Amino acid sequence: MLRPETLESRTPLGMAGEIARLVADGSLEPGERLPTVREIAATLGVSAGTVAAAWRALADAGTIVSRGRAGTFVRTEPREWLSPRVQVMTSPGGPRRVEPVRLDLSHGTPDPAMLPALEDAFTRVAPRADTGRYHDLPVLPELHAHISETWPAPGVETFTVVDGALDGISRTLEQVARFGDRVAVESPGFPYFFDLLEALGAEPVPLALDRDGVTTGSLARALARKPAAVILQPRSQNPTGISMTPERARALAQVIMNAPDGRRVTIIEDDHSALISSAPDVTLARWVPNQVVHVRSFSKSHGPDLRIAALGGPARVVDRLVARRMLGPGWTSRLLQTVLLDLLTDPGPVARVRTARLIYRDRLDSMATALRRFGVDVGDPDGINLWVPVVDERAARMRLAASGIAVSAGSPYRAPTDDVTTPHIRVTAGALTANVRLVAEALAEAAEAPPVG
Ligand SMILES: Cc1ncc(COP(=O)(O)O)c(C=O)c1O
Repeated sequence: MLRPETLESRTPLGMAGEIARLVADGSLEPGERLPTVREIAATLGVSAGTVAAAWRALADAGTIVSRGRAGTFVRTEPREWLSPRVQVMTSPGGPRRVEPVRLDLSHGTPDPAMLPALEDAFTRVAPRADTGRYHDLPVLPELHAHISETWPAPGVETFTVVDGALDGISRTLEQVARFGDRVAVESPGFPYFFDLLEALGAEPVPLALDRDGVTTGSLARALARKPAAVILQPRSQNPTGISMTPERARALAQVIMNAPDGRRVTIIEDDHSALISSAPDVTLARWVPNQVVHVRSFSKSHGPDLRIAALGGPARVVDRLVARRMLGPGWTSRLLQTVLLDLLTDPGPVARVRTARLIYRDRLDSMATALRRFGVDVGDPDGINLWVPVVDERAARMRLAASGIAVSAGSPYRAPTDDVTTPHIRVTAGALTANVRLVAEALAEAAEAPPVG
Protein backbone atom coordinates (compact mmCIF):
# COMPACT_ATOMS: atom_id res chain seq x y z
CA MET A 1 0.00 0.00 0.00
CA LEU A 2 1.32 3.46 -0.85
CA ARG A 3 1.69 5.61 2.25
CA PRO A 4 1.89 9.21 0.96
CA GLU A 5 3.90 10.38 3.96
CA THR A 6 6.81 8.16 2.86
CA LEU A 7 7.19 10.06 -0.44
CA GLU A 8 10.19 12.34 -0.36
CA SER A 9 9.79 14.30 -3.54
CA ARG A 10 7.46 17.29 -3.94
CA THR A 11 7.73 17.78 -7.71
CA PRO A 12 5.58 16.00 -10.33
CA LEU A 13 8.52 14.30 -12.00
CA GLY A 14 10.18 13.36 -8.72
CA MET A 15 6.96 11.86 -7.31
CA ALA A 16 6.30 9.95 -10.52
CA GLY A 17 9.82 8.55 -10.44
CA GLU A 18 9.50 7.45 -6.81
CA ILE A 19 6.21 5.66 -7.44
CA ALA A 20 7.53 4.02 -10.60
CA ARG A 21 10.47 2.66 -8.56
CA LEU A 22 8.09 1.28 -5.90
CA VAL A 23 6.17 -0.54 -8.64
CA ALA A 24 9.38 -1.81 -10.25
CA ASP A 25 10.77 -3.24 -7.00
CA GLY A 26 7.47 -4.89 -6.07
CA SER A 27 6.66 -2.70 -3.05
CA LEU A 28 3.49 -1.69 -4.92
CA GLU A 29 1.78 -4.68 -6.53
CA PRO A 30 -0.12 -4.73 -9.82
CA GLY A 31 -3.78 -4.02 -9.11
CA GLU A 32 -3.12 -2.01 -5.93
CA ARG A 33 -5.28 1.04 -5.47
CA LEU A 34 -3.42 4.31 -4.93
CA PRO A 35 -4.59 6.97 -2.46
CA THR A 36 -6.59 9.80 -4.05
CA VAL A 37 -4.91 12.89 -5.47
CA ARG A 38 -6.52 14.97 -2.70
CA GLU A 39 -5.27 12.67 0.05
CA ILE A 40 -1.71 12.79 -1.25
CA ALA A 41 -1.80 16.53 -1.83
CA ALA A 42 -3.06 17.15 1.70
CA THR A 43 -0.51 14.81 3.31
CA LEU A 44 2.45 16.25 1.41
CA GLY A 45 1.32 19.87 1.53
CA VAL A 46 1.46 20.28 -2.27
CA SER A 47 -1.24 21.35 -4.71
CA ALA A 48 -3.62 18.82 -6.24
CA GLY A 49 -2.31 19.97 -9.62
CA THR A 50 1.22 18.79 -8.73
CA VAL A 51 -0.02 15.30 -7.83
CA ALA A 52 -2.29 15.20 -10.88
CA ALA A 53 0.70 16.01 -13.10
CA ALA A 54 2.67 13.14 -11.51
CA TRP A 55 -0.33 10.84 -12.13
CA ARG A 56 -0.49 11.91 -15.79
CA ALA A 57 3.19 11.10 -16.27
CA LEU A 58 2.72 7.66 -14.66
CA ALA A 59 -0.39 6.94 -16.74
CA ASP A 60 1.42 8.00 -19.93
CA ALA A 61 4.23 5.60 -19.02
CA GLY A 62 1.69 2.78 -18.55
CA THR A 63 2.53 2.37 -14.84
CA ILE A 64 -0.90 3.26 -13.45
CA VAL A 65 -4.46 3.32 -14.79
CA SER A 66 -7.41 5.41 -13.73
CA ARG A 67 -10.75 3.62 -13.43
CA GLY A 68 -12.89 6.71 -12.93
CA ARG A 69 -14.68 6.83 -9.61
CA ALA A 70 -13.27 3.43 -8.57
CA GLY A 71 -9.86 5.08 -8.25
CA THR A 72 -6.38 4.85 -9.69
CA PHE A 73 -4.54 1.54 -9.72
CA VAL A 74 -1.11 0.12 -10.39
CA ARG A 75 -1.52 -1.40 -13.81
CA THR A 76 -1.87 -5.16 -13.99
CA GLU A 77 -0.49 -7.12 -16.90
CA PRO A 78 -3.17 -7.34 -19.55
CA ARG A 79 -4.50 -10.80 -18.70
CA GLU A 80 -8.23 -10.17 -18.86
CA TRP A 81 -8.90 -13.67 -20.16
CA LEU A 82 -8.12 -15.02 -16.69
CA SER A 83 -10.83 -15.05 -14.04
CA PRO A 84 -10.42 -12.62 -11.08
CA ARG A 85 -8.89 -15.01 -8.51
CA VAL A 86 -6.60 -16.54 -11.07
CA GLN A 87 -5.21 -13.10 -11.90
CA VAL A 88 -4.33 -12.59 -8.22
CA MET A 89 -2.92 -16.12 -7.91
CA THR A 90 -0.53 -15.64 -10.79
CA SER A 91 0.40 -12.00 -10.24
CA PRO A 92 4.07 -11.54 -9.43
CA GLY A 93 4.48 -11.60 -5.68
CA GLY A 94 7.52 -9.43 -5.54
CA PRO A 95 10.26 -7.66 -7.39
CA ARG A 96 9.99 -9.70 -10.55
CA ARG A 97 11.61 -7.04 -12.65
CA VAL A 98 14.59 -6.92 -10.32
CA GLU A 99 15.16 -10.68 -10.04
CA PRO A 100 14.07 -12.83 -12.97
CA VAL A 101 12.18 -16.02 -12.04
CA ARG A 102 14.74 -18.82 -11.96
CA LEU A 103 12.51 -21.44 -10.39
CA ASP A 104 8.79 -21.28 -11.13
CA LEU A 105 6.87 -23.28 -8.52
CA SER A 106 3.71 -21.24 -8.95
CA HIS A 107 1.91 -22.81 -11.87
CA GLY A 108 0.31 -26.08 -10.68
CA THR A 109 1.02 -27.78 -13.98
CA PRO A 110 2.87 -31.05 -14.51
CA ASP A 111 6.60 -31.26 -15.26
CA PRO A 112 6.78 -31.43 -19.08
CA ALA A 113 9.56 -34.03 -18.77
CA MET A 114 7.08 -36.39 -17.07
CA LEU A 115 4.51 -36.41 -19.89
CA PRO A 116 4.31 -39.27 -22.40
CA ALA A 117 5.59 -38.47 -25.89
CA LEU A 118 2.78 -37.35 -28.13
CA GLU A 119 4.56 -37.62 -31.45
CA ASP A 120 4.73 -41.44 -31.17
CA ALA A 121 1.05 -41.65 -30.30
CA PHE A 122 0.09 -39.38 -33.21
CA THR A 123 2.14 -41.54 -35.58
CA ARG A 124 0.51 -44.71 -34.30
CA VAL A 125 -3.04 -43.36 -34.53
CA ALA A 126 -2.70 -41.52 -37.86
CA PRO A 127 -3.75 -44.49 -40.00
CA ARG A 128 -6.80 -45.04 -37.74
CA ALA A 129 -7.86 -41.40 -37.63
CA ASP A 130 -11.25 -40.66 -39.05
CA THR A 131 -12.74 -37.33 -40.03
CA GLY A 132 -15.98 -38.32 -38.29
CA ARG A 133 -19.59 -37.30 -38.76
CA TYR A 134 -21.88 -35.04 -36.76
CA HIS A 135 -24.24 -37.84 -35.76
CA ASP A 136 -21.65 -40.36 -34.55
CA LEU A 137 -21.47 -41.39 -30.90
CA PRO A 138 -19.73 -38.65 -28.88
CA VAL A 139 -17.39 -41.18 -27.24
CA LEU A 140 -15.35 -43.77 -29.17
CA PRO A 141 -16.69 -47.21 -28.17
CA GLU A 142 -13.19 -48.55 -27.37
CA LEU A 143 -12.41 -45.56 -25.14
CA HIS A 144 -15.83 -45.90 -23.52
CA ALA A 145 -15.05 -49.54 -22.70
CA HIS A 146 -11.63 -48.65 -21.29
CA ILE A 147 -13.11 -45.91 -19.09
CA SER A 148 -15.92 -48.05 -17.71
CA GLU A 149 -13.53 -50.95 -16.98
CA THR A 150 -11.16 -48.71 -15.02
CA TRP A 151 -13.81 -46.61 -13.22
CA PRO A 152 -13.67 -46.72 -9.40
CA ALA A 153 -17.33 -47.77 -9.05
CA PRO A 154 -19.35 -50.32 -11.03
CA GLY A 155 -22.75 -49.71 -12.62
CA VAL A 156 -22.33 -46.07 -13.62
CA GLU A 157 -25.24 -45.19 -15.94
CA THR A 158 -23.59 -42.86 -18.47
CA PHE A 159 -20.03 -41.97 -19.43
CA THR A 160 -18.85 -39.20 -21.66
CA VAL A 161 -15.66 -37.41 -22.56
CA VAL A 162 -15.30 -33.64 -22.05
CA ASP A 163 -12.64 -30.98 -22.65
CA GLY A 164 -10.96 -31.23 -19.24
CA ALA A 165 -12.24 -31.52 -15.68
CA LEU A 166 -13.27 -27.89 -15.47
CA ASP A 167 -15.40 -28.21 -18.63
CA GLY A 168 -17.14 -31.25 -17.10
CA ILE A 169 -17.66 -29.59 -13.72
CA SER A 170 -18.89 -26.33 -15.16
CA ARG A 171 -21.37 -28.14 -17.42
CA THR A 172 -22.56 -30.37 -14.58
CA LEU A 173 -23.17 -27.32 -12.40
CA GLU A 174 -25.14 -25.72 -15.22
CA GLN A 175 -27.42 -28.76 -15.12
CA VAL A 176 -27.90 -29.01 -11.37
CA ALA A 177 -27.48 -25.52 -9.84
CA ARG A 178 -29.53 -22.43 -10.52
CA PHE A 179 -28.87 -18.77 -9.79
CA GLY A 180 -29.00 -18.26 -6.02
CA ASP A 181 -28.44 -21.94 -5.16
CA ARG A 182 -25.80 -22.94 -2.64
CA VAL A 183 -22.89 -25.17 -3.60
CA ALA A 184 -20.63 -26.75 -0.97
CA VAL A 185 -16.97 -26.58 -1.85
CA GLU A 186 -13.68 -27.25 -0.08
CA SER A 187 -11.89 -24.29 1.47
CA PRO A 188 -9.02 -24.05 0.86
CA GLY A 189 -9.95 -25.16 -2.62
CA PHE A 190 -9.48 -24.52 -6.31
CA PRO A 191 -9.82 -20.75 -7.07
CA TYR A 192 -11.44 -21.47 -10.44
CA PHE A 193 -14.38 -23.05 -8.56
CA PHE A 194 -15.00 -19.87 -6.56
CA ASP A 195 -14.88 -17.78 -9.74
CA LEU A 196 -17.14 -20.29 -11.49
CA LEU A 197 -19.72 -20.19 -8.68
CA GLU A 198 -19.60 -16.40 -8.74
CA ALA A 199 -20.20 -16.45 -12.52
CA LEU A 200 -23.18 -18.80 -12.05
CA GLY A 201 -24.64 -16.69 -9.23
CA ALA A 202 -24.26 -19.59 -6.75
CA GLU A 203 -23.25 -19.16 -3.13
CA PRO A 204 -20.24 -21.18 -1.95
CA VAL A 205 -20.61 -23.02 1.37
CA PRO A 206 -17.14 -23.90 2.71
CA LEU A 207 -16.16 -27.47 3.61
CA ALA A 208 -13.22 -28.08 5.95
CA LEU A 209 -10.53 -30.73 5.51
CA ASP A 210 -8.39 -32.80 7.84
CA ARG A 211 -5.66 -35.24 6.82
CA ASP A 212 -8.25 -37.83 5.59
CA GLY A 213 -10.28 -35.48 3.40
CA VAL A 214 -13.37 -33.33 3.89
CA THR A 215 -14.62 -33.65 7.46
CA THR A 216 -17.99 -35.29 8.13
CA GLY A 217 -18.93 -32.45 10.49
CA SER A 218 -18.42 -29.75 7.87
CA LEU A 219 -20.35 -31.75 5.27
CA ALA A 220 -23.25 -32.25 7.68
CA ARG A 221 -23.31 -28.51 8.42
CA ALA A 222 -23.17 -27.68 4.72
CA LEU A 223 -25.99 -30.13 3.91
CA ALA A 224 -28.17 -28.47 6.53
CA ARG A 225 -28.04 -25.40 4.26
CA LYS A 226 -29.54 -27.49 1.44
CA PRO A 227 -26.94 -27.03 -1.30
CA ALA A 228 -27.80 -28.10 -4.84
CA ALA A 229 -24.33 -29.60 -5.26
CA VAL A 230 -21.18 -30.53 -3.38
CA ILE A 231 -17.81 -30.36 -5.16
CA LEU A 232 -15.10 -32.64 -3.80
CA GLN A 233 -11.54 -33.33 -4.89
CA PRO A 234 -11.08 -36.97 -3.88
CA ARG A 235 -7.32 -37.06 -4.45
CA SER A 236 -4.32 -34.69 -4.40
CA GLN A 237 -6.61 -31.90 -3.25
CA ASN A 238 -5.51 -28.57 -4.69
CA PRO A 239 -3.96 -26.82 -2.76
CA THR A 240 -3.42 -29.08 0.30
CA GLY A 241 -2.41 -32.34 -1.42
CA ILE A 242 -4.80 -34.27 0.84
CA SER A 243 -6.28 -37.50 -0.57
CA MET A 244 -9.55 -38.82 0.82
CA THR A 245 -9.26 -42.22 2.50
CA PRO A 246 -11.77 -44.94 1.50
CA GLU A 247 -13.07 -44.90 5.10
CA ARG A 248 -13.70 -41.15 4.90
CA ALA A 249 -15.46 -41.59 1.54
CA ARG A 250 -17.80 -44.11 3.15
CA ALA A 251 -18.40 -41.85 6.15
CA LEU A 252 -19.22 -38.89 3.88
CA ALA A 253 -21.66 -41.03 1.87
CA GLN A 254 -23.30 -41.98 5.19
CA VAL A 255 -23.69 -38.31 6.11
CA ILE A 256 -25.38 -37.70 2.77
CA MET A 257 -27.72 -40.69 3.18
CA ASN A 258 -28.71 -39.56 6.68
CA ALA A 259 -29.21 -35.85 5.99
CA PRO A 260 -32.77 -34.61 5.45
CA ASP A 261 -32.92 -33.91 1.69
CA GLY A 262 -29.41 -35.40 1.42
CA ARG A 263 -30.62 -37.61 -1.41
CA ARG A 264 -31.32 -34.57 -3.57
CA VAL A 265 -27.82 -33.16 -3.67
CA THR A 266 -25.49 -33.85 -6.61
CA ILE A 267 -21.93 -34.75 -5.64
CA ILE A 268 -19.35 -33.65 -8.20
CA GLU A 269 -15.99 -35.36 -7.78
CA ASP A 270 -12.97 -33.75 -9.44
CA ASP A 271 -10.22 -36.34 -9.77
CA HIS A 272 -8.01 -33.80 -11.51
CA SER A 273 -4.68 -35.52 -10.83
CA ALA A 274 -6.05 -39.02 -11.39
CA LEU A 275 -3.19 -41.03 -12.88
CA ILE A 276 -0.43 -39.23 -11.01
CA SER A 277 -2.08 -39.59 -7.59
CA SER A 278 -0.64 -42.29 -5.35
CA ALA A 279 -3.70 -42.72 -3.11
CA PRO A 280 -6.47 -45.23 -3.98
CA ASP A 281 -9.08 -44.12 -6.54
CA VAL A 282 -12.14 -43.35 -4.38
CA THR A 283 -15.67 -42.30 -5.18
CA LEU A 284 -18.84 -41.85 -3.17
CA ALA A 285 -20.64 -43.47 -6.13
CA ARG A 286 -20.05 -46.82 -4.42
CA TRP A 287 -22.70 -45.83 -1.88
CA VAL A 288 -24.79 -43.11 -3.53
CA PRO A 289 -24.43 -43.91 -7.26
CA ASN A 290 -27.47 -41.94 -8.37
CA GLN A 291 -26.04 -38.72 -6.99
CA VAL A 292 -22.40 -38.74 -8.07
CA VAL A 293 -20.85 -37.22 -11.18
CA HIS A 294 -17.22 -38.32 -11.12
CA VAL A 295 -14.66 -36.62 -13.37
CA ARG A 296 -11.25 -38.05 -14.24
CA SER A 297 -8.89 -35.61 -15.90
CA PHE A 298 -5.88 -36.63 -17.96
CA SER A 299 -4.35 -33.13 -17.80
CA LYS A 300 -1.79 -33.85 -15.08
CA SER A 301 -0.78 -37.27 -16.39
CA HIS A 302 -0.89 -36.69 -20.17
CA GLY A 303 -0.72 -32.91 -20.54
CA PRO A 304 -3.12 -30.02 -19.85
CA ASP A 305 -3.22 -29.07 -23.52
CA LEU A 306 -4.87 -32.35 -24.51
CA ARG A 307 -7.97 -30.88 -22.81
CA ILE A 308 -9.49 -34.29 -22.11
CA ALA A 309 -11.35 -35.74 -19.14
CA ALA A 310 -13.76 -38.64 -18.68
CA LEU A 311 -17.01 -38.06 -16.82
CA GLY A 312 -19.47 -40.64 -15.49
CA GLY A 313 -22.70 -40.34 -13.54
CA PRO A 314 -26.46 -40.66 -13.51
CA ALA A 315 -28.15 -40.48 -16.93
CA ARG A 316 -30.53 -37.74 -15.77
CA VAL A 317 -27.56 -35.35 -15.42
CA VAL A 318 -24.99 -36.67 -17.90
CA ASP A 319 -27.39 -37.25 -20.84
CA ARG A 320 -28.62 -33.69 -20.55
CA LEU A 321 -25.05 -32.42 -20.34
CA VAL A 322 -24.11 -34.37 -23.50
CA ALA A 323 -27.20 -33.12 -25.37
CA ARG A 324 -26.49 -29.51 -24.35
CA ARG A 325 -22.89 -29.85 -25.42
CA MET A 326 -24.03 -31.03 -28.86
CA LEU A 327 -25.32 -27.47 -29.34
CA GLY A 328 -21.85 -26.05 -28.74
CA PRO A 329 -18.54 -27.82 -29.26
CA GLY A 330 -20.54 -30.99 -30.07
CA TRP A 331 -18.08 -33.58 -28.82
CA THR A 332 -14.45 -33.85 -27.82
CA SER A 333 -12.42 -34.46 -30.97
CA ARG A 334 -12.46 -38.19 -31.74
CA LEU A 335 -8.98 -37.78 -33.13
CA LEU A 336 -7.83 -36.72 -29.65
CA GLN A 337 -9.88 -39.53 -28.11
CA THR A 338 -7.99 -41.98 -30.34
CA VAL A 339 -4.70 -40.47 -29.16
CA LEU A 340 -5.80 -40.73 -25.52
CA LEU A 341 -6.87 -44.36 -25.95
CA ASP A 342 -3.48 -45.14 -27.46
CA LEU A 343 -1.71 -43.41 -24.54
CA LEU A 344 -3.82 -45.34 -22.04
CA THR A 345 -3.21 -48.75 -23.61
CA ASP A 346 0.21 -48.74 -25.31
CA PRO A 347 2.81 -50.16 -22.89
CA GLY A 348 5.34 -47.31 -23.50
CA PRO A 349 3.19 -44.37 -22.41
CA VAL A 350 1.51 -46.47 -19.71
CA ALA A 351 4.92 -47.18 -18.13
CA ARG A 352 5.94 -43.54 -18.46
CA VAL A 353 2.86 -42.29 -16.62
CA ARG A 354 3.39 -44.90 -13.90
CA THR A 355 6.99 -43.71 -13.48
CA ALA A 356 5.82 -40.08 -13.40
CA ARG A 357 3.46 -40.95 -10.53
CA LEU A 358 6.32 -42.54 -8.55
CA ILE A 359 8.65 -39.61 -9.24
CA TYR A 360 6.07 -37.02 -8.15
CA ARG A 361 5.49 -39.06 -4.98
CA ASP A 362 9.21 -39.07 -4.33
CA ARG A 363 9.58 -35.32 -5.03
CA LEU A 364 6.74 -34.41 -2.66
CA ASP A 365 7.93 -36.81 0.04
CA SER A 366 11.48 -35.42 -0.13
CA MET A 367 10.28 -31.83 0.06
CA ALA A 368 7.82 -32.54 2.88
CA THR A 369 10.59 -34.28 4.85
CA ALA A 370 13.08 -31.47 4.20
CA LEU A 371 10.54 -28.85 5.26
CA ARG A 372 9.75 -30.79 8.43
CA ARG A 373 13.45 -30.61 9.34
CA PHE A 374 13.19 -26.84 9.06
CA GLY A 375 10.11 -26.87 11.29
CA VAL A 376 7.46 -26.47 8.56
CA ASP A 377 4.61 -29.02 8.53
CA VAL A 378 2.88 -29.64 5.19
CA GLY A 379 1.36 -33.02 6.15
CA ASP A 380 1.70 -35.95 3.74
CA PRO A 381 0.76 -34.43 0.39
CA ASP A 382 -0.16 -36.36 -2.78
CA GLY A 383 -0.01 -34.99 -6.35
CA ILE A 384 2.21 -32.02 -7.25
CA ASN A 385 1.35 -29.23 -4.80
CA LEU A 386 2.22 -28.27 -1.22
CA TRP A 387 0.26 -25.92 1.01
CA VAL A 388 2.82 -24.12 3.11
CA PRO A 389 1.76 -22.17 6.23
CA VAL A 390 3.47 -18.77 6.45
CA VAL A 391 3.46 -15.81 8.80
CA ASP A 392 2.53 -13.40 6.00
CA GLU A 393 1.61 -14.39 2.45
CA ARG A 394 2.91 -11.30 0.68
CA ALA A 395 6.14 -11.14 2.66
CA ALA A 396 6.80 -14.83 1.94
CA ARG A 397 6.25 -14.38 -1.79
CA MET A 398 8.42 -11.28 -1.89
CA ARG A 399 11.21 -13.00 0.03
CA LEU A 400 11.13 -15.94 -2.39
CA ALA A 401 10.85 -13.69 -5.44
CA ALA A 402 13.99 -11.89 -4.32
CA SER A 403 15.78 -15.26 -4.68
CA GLY A 404 14.15 -15.85 -8.06
CA ILE A 405 11.58 -18.39 -6.78
CA ALA A 406 7.93 -17.89 -7.77
CA VAL A 407 5.10 -19.50 -5.76
CA SER A 408 1.36 -19.00 -5.87
CA ALA A 409 -0.52 -16.65 -3.54
CA GLY A 410 -2.61 -18.60 -1.02
CA SER A 411 -5.52 -16.21 -0.42
CA PRO A 412 -7.36 -16.96 -3.73
CA TYR A 413 -7.72 -20.56 -2.50
CA ARG A 414 -10.03 -19.51 0.33
CA ALA A 415 -13.79 -19.50 -0.26
CA PRO A 416 -15.08 -15.94 0.11
CA THR A 417 -17.48 -17.21 2.79
CA ASP A 418 -14.75 -18.95 4.80
CA ASP A 419 -13.76 -17.16 8.00
CA VAL A 420 -10.50 -19.09 8.44
CA THR A 421 -7.71 -16.87 7.17
CA THR A 422 -4.42 -18.50 8.20
CA PRO A 423 -1.94 -17.35 5.54
CA HIS A 424 -0.39 -19.89 3.18
CA ILE A 425 1.45 -20.08 -0.12
CA ARG A 426 0.99 -22.86 -2.66
CA VAL A 427 4.12 -24.47 -3.98
CA THR A 428 4.18 -26.82 -6.97
CA ALA A 429 6.95 -29.01 -5.56
CA GLY A 430 6.25 -31.62 -8.26
CA ALA A 431 8.09 -29.31 -10.66
CA LEU A 432 11.29 -29.36 -8.58
CA THR A 433 13.98 -31.57 -10.07
CA ALA A 434 16.99 -30.68 -7.88
CA ASN A 435 18.24 -28.78 -4.82
CA VAL A 436 15.43 -29.93 -2.53
CA ARG A 437 17.26 -28.96 0.64
CA LEU A 438 18.20 -25.49 -0.61
CA VAL A 439 14.66 -24.76 -1.79
CA ALA A 440 13.21 -26.14 1.46
CA GLU A 441 15.48 -23.80 3.38
CA ALA A 442 14.37 -20.82 1.26
CA LEU A 443 10.71 -21.80 1.77
CA ALA A 444 11.16 -22.19 5.53
CA GLU A 445 12.88 -18.82 5.76
CA ALA A 446 10.15 -17.17 3.69
CA ALA A 447 7.51 -18.82 5.87
CA GLU A 448 8.92 -16.89 8.85
CA ALA A 449 9.12 -13.52 7.08
CA PRO A 450 7.21 -10.80 9.00
CA PRO A 451 4.71 -8.55 7.23
CA VAL A 452 6.29 -5.81 5.10
CA GLY A 453 5.47 -2.10 5.22
C1 LIG B 1 -8.66 -28.97 -8.56
C2 LIG B 1 -8.50 -28.85 -10.02
N1 LIG B 1 -9.55 -29.08 -10.82
C3 LIG B 1 -9.45 -28.97 -12.16
C4 LIG B 1 -8.28 -28.60 -12.75
C5 LIG B 1 -8.26 -28.40 -14.23
O1 LIG B 1 -8.26 -29.63 -14.85
P1 LIG B 1 -8.51 -29.73 -16.40
O2 LIG B 1 -7.24 -29.34 -17.08
O3 LIG B 1 -8.82 -31.18 -16.60
O4 LIG B 1 -9.67 -28.85 -16.74
C6 LIG B 1 -7.15 -28.37 -11.98
C7 LIG B 1 -5.89 -27.95 -12.60
O5 LIG B 1 -4.93 -27.64 -11.95
C8 LIG B 1 -7.27 -28.48 -10.57
O6 LIG B 1 -6.23 -28.23 -9.78
